Parts: sequence; C-alpha cells; structure tokens
Amino acid sequence: MSAYKIEEHTYDVVVVGAGGAGLRATLGMAEQGLKTACVTKVFPTRSHTVAAQGGIAASLSNMGPDHWQWHMYDTVKGSDWLGDTDAMEYLAREAPKAVYELEHYGVPFSRTEEGKIYQRPFGGHTTEFGEGPPVQRTCAAADRTGHAMLHTLYGQSVKQKAEFFIEYFATDLIISEDGVCQGVLAWKLDDGTLHLFSAKMVVLATGGYGRAYFSATSAHTCTGDGNGMVARAGLPLQDMEFVQFHPTGIYGAGCLITEGARGEGGYLTNSEGERFMERYAPHYKDLAPRDYVSRCMTMEIREGRGVGANGDHIHLHLNHLPPETLKLRLPGISESARVFAGVDVNKEPIPVLPTVHYNMGGIPTNYWGEVLNADSENPDRVSPGLMAVGEAACASVHGANRLGSNSLIDLVVFGRAAAIRAGQVVDPKAPNPKLNKASVDKALERFDRFRNLDGAVPTSDLRLEMQKAMQSDAAVFRTDKTLAEGCRKMQDVAGKMADLKVTDRSLIWNTDLMETLELDNLMPCALTTIVGAEARKESRGAHAHEDYPDRDDAAWRKHTLAWVDNTSVRLDYRPVHTEPLTLEADGGISMQKIAPAERKF
Ligand code: FUM
Repeated sequence: MSAYKIEEHTYDVVVVGAGGAGLRATLGMAEQGLKTACVTKVFPTRSHTVAAQGGIAASLSNMGPDHWQWHMYDTVKGSDWLGDTDAMEYLAREAPKAVYELEHYGVPFSRTEEGKIYQRPFGGHTTEFGEGPPVQRTCAAADRTGHAMLHTLYGQSVKQKAEFFIEYFATDLIISEDGVCQGVLAWKLDDGTLHLFSAKMVVLATGGYGRAYFSATSAHTCTGDGNGMVARAGLPLQDMEFVQFHPTGIYGAGCLITEGARGEGGYLTNSEGERFMERYAPHYKDLAPRDYVSRCMTMEIREGRGVGANGDHIHLHLNHLPPETLKLRLPGISESARVFAGVDVNKEPIPVLPTVHYNMGGIPTNYWGEVLNADSENPDRVSPGLMAVGEAACASVHGANRLGSNSLIDLVVFGRAAAIRAGQVVDPKAPNPKLNKASVDKALERFDRFRNLDGAVPTSDLRLEMQKAMQSDAAVFRTDKTLAEGCRKMQDVAGKMADLKVTDRSLIWNTDLMETLELDNLMPCALTTIVGAEARKESRGAHAHEDYPDRDDAAWRKHTLAWVDNTSVRLDYRPVHTEPLTLEADGGISMQKIAPAERKF
C-alpha cells in the first residue's frame, strides 16, 4: 500500500458529515474546547439538510397553547410505539432550548407580527394528547429552514475554530483490537491523497440512504456512508425496514413539496376532485401523519381514482391560497413546482406521489448519541469511541414512522447531546492511542481493491438494479410475496459487487471510484432493509404488510438488529425502551397517556 501518499491528523473528535447534525455536533464539541475536525464529502452548506423545507418542531407555544408532553405524545404515537420512550422524552423536552439556541446563533426564522418565531401546523402534531385541534409547532424560515440552519451552523463552527476537511470521502473506521473506534481513513477527492484521522471520539453524521431507491427526495449524496462503515466494522444496523415515503414528492421528478404546503392550507384530491383525506382521517384530514397519508394516496390510485393520463398520481392544491401567502411562506416550493412540474401554483394543482424521503432505521444509539454494539443479550452495550447522530442514527425517536419536522429537531437535539456527552468522556489532555495497524491495512486494502476492480458490471448498472428492486419490492405496501422476491433479487444484486468494473484508475476527482464506494455503502443498507422487512410479520408505521395488516405488540414491539456478511444478513432483536426519563410524580408524562393504543386520526 506504500503507493499511496498518506497524511496523518490527530484530533480529540472527528465528525464525519456536515449536515445539520454533523455541524451542530461539531459546533458543540468546538465550543467546549475539544480539538474538532469535520470531514465532509460535500461543501457543508451543500449537505442534504439544505433541502429541508418546512421546519423544525418545538413546543414554543408562539401561535397558541402547546406543551412538551403533547409533543412527546405525538412522537410516541407517530412512531407507532416503536420509538424509545427515554429518547422521545429527551427530544421533546430539549427541543425548545435547542431552537432558541439556533435563534441566538443567528438562524433567520420567519416571524409573527409580534416578532416571535413563526410556527406552522405539520402532520401528526396535535394538542391535548391527540384530542384537540392540530397545533402550530413547526418553526420555519419560510420553506427554506434547513438552508437557513446550515449556513448559520457552519458560520458558528468556523468561528469556534473547528477545522473542516471539505470534499474528503471517509471510507472506513479504524478500530482497535478490543473494539474501540480510533479514527477514520478518508480520501481527499481533489488531489487523491489519503488521510488517517486519529480521534478519541468519532461521530458519524452521514445522513440517510434514500438513494438505495429509484425515486427519492434525498440528494444523490445520501448513500448511507456511515451505515456502510458501521456494517463493515461488524456492528449492527437497527430498524432498517422502516423507510418513510413522503406523501408529496413531485410526480416524475421526486423533488420534495413540503408538508408545510398542507400546513398552510393545501389539500389533496383524487380524479373525482374529492378531498379524500376527509374520508380516511376525519379529524386531522391532510395533516394526518405521513405513513397514513401515503397509504391513503396509494389506495386511491390502486382503486382507480388517481389523476393524470395513467391515473397514477394525486393532485396537491395550493391554488386557493392567497398569492401573498405563497410568496411569503412557500416561495421555494412554488419555484420547484414551476421548474420540475411546469405548474403555476397560483393557478393549478401540483402532481404528487409518495416518494422515499427518510430512513427511520440506522446506527443504534442511546440518547447521548453513543453507538450501541447491541444484541438481544446486551441490548444497551456502548461501542466505545463511536457516536452517531442525525438520519444516520437510530436513537430511536422516530420508531416506525417519523413526524414531519421532527427530523430537523432530531439533528440539533442529538448533535448537541453528543457534544455534551463528549465533553464528559473525552479527555483533551490524554494522548491519542496508536492506530491499530491491522485495521488501517484492512481499510487501505479495501480502497485499493475497489480502485482496481476489473469485472464486467458497470457501477451505474448495478446501482440501478438495486434501486429498481427496492422500489418495487420494499414499497409503501409490502406482501410476503414481494418481500421474498425482493430478498432474492437483492442477494443476487449484492453478489455482483465482486464483478464490478471501475474504469477510471486515477485518484483525482474519480467519480467512478467514489460512486462505487458509495454503492458498497448502499448495499448493506438495502439488504438489511429488505431482509428486516421480510422477517417482520406485522404492520407498524411505514412497514405496511398486507398479509399482516395489524400491529402485533406482543410479538413485534422490538427493534430489529441486522448484521451483514457479504450477501447474507443475520437478524436479532432488542427491546424497546418503554420507560420515560422522568416519573409522572416528578413532572413527567403519564404512562397511561403513552400506553400502546390504536392509531386513529
Ligand atoms: O415536508 C417537509 O418539509 C419535510 C420535513 C421533514 O421531513 O421533516
């Protein structure tokens, strides 16, 4: 491996990824005086958080009564009782603090007449523990909230002297013989050098893996890189079968039309012009949670009430809203509708279709962001030296289905929590341990092997095969038959990895090699998604299994753990945390309120 030029770097903390979670973690670490590097494959403000539109949930009560317990209840119910109760309490309680911090860092939130942060309604967010009307809980910067957050967090991180390694692609974790994460290997894309980062704590903030599917709102960079690194390190992935379809991706293009559009008064219609959500969800209508709305849309299409020449999509109406509302609150999606659907939202409905949007599953962590090397016998065992935050992680606050705007709050609450925890466990005065040579060699050998792949299958062909299999067989609705077929197809696809051909052997801006390494990260994500889904014989949240239409708490209120070895996946399970952090007597939520119940809207 001496052919490669390798530079070494030493930090207290290395954060991989510079989206909302990565930047919030980076900023928090640097603020505490930890020597912090952020390694990112794209420029920070181009991370996928930039595409987050509608907003960030927190019970600020700026627009009417709200309470952190209502937020927690909605999150528990939204998760279809698969979320970890301690983590969900932490999220809901810390959310207001985390949003006010963002405000003070400088995020340019939209404002009410009184100058408070503007909040809009979002699906599944309610008052009075699901008994009252929808609540305005989602804090927004027009429909460009993620964009506003990224720019602010990046500026603040630079101010705190965090060091950025931009357009460096992290390829593998370096792990000691006794299982402690010691750092990462990264490839600098613009000059071809390799970089070994030694760290006392590595934080994976690499985002989701939407690009395992053919049509996704996710950026092309969402390739599950952290998940891939974790799977290769022999650690489990959790609850991967739960993939969220956002109800309103633009038909054909897949770009996101924010749920904030329905929050501002937009509604869905079928080919008969019917506002069909009134039939399915009489109370919350178009503002029912995403899993539910996506299923209703799919049923309308299946039953012959889709719109368009092929009856294969649904209409989203904003044309009844005042032009000034569209201009002030939804300027970004008005432009997206024009560019990607050729629609003037003032005059015509937008053609939309449920589109892959978010991965509830990921790297298992506790609510401090510490990665869990869990199995059924050691369900909460921490993997030392390693944290994960954001969509890459599974804390698990979203369980089987995430509520809209709970993603941005997850990023900042848990990015911040990871920094608080690192402040407790990382000693800036201690020397960095010597990197495990065997682990370094293994990472270098893999890089070299991929660079020299000389088989028969182009990366883009195999990626497309994977995306099509996942799109058709791990869809909004699943059956025993489609899932078994999906497992078979995915094993076949994964088996072809060894026969890939990388045509470009150079090291500088080699997108062929980078896409191949990304595909190698997507593959364990796709495999664990389909195998975990095939095994789960119930319907829960985003996992709608037509052969098992009911939720089965006795058998299946548990987290799936999945390990990947080449093309095969091994499953195990760990219990859901059902205890909150705070007892009711000490001001916590009533256990009765969050006891499993039927989800009705
Ligand atoms: O609809 C949206 O604006 C997306 C928000 C989210 O996924 O949280």
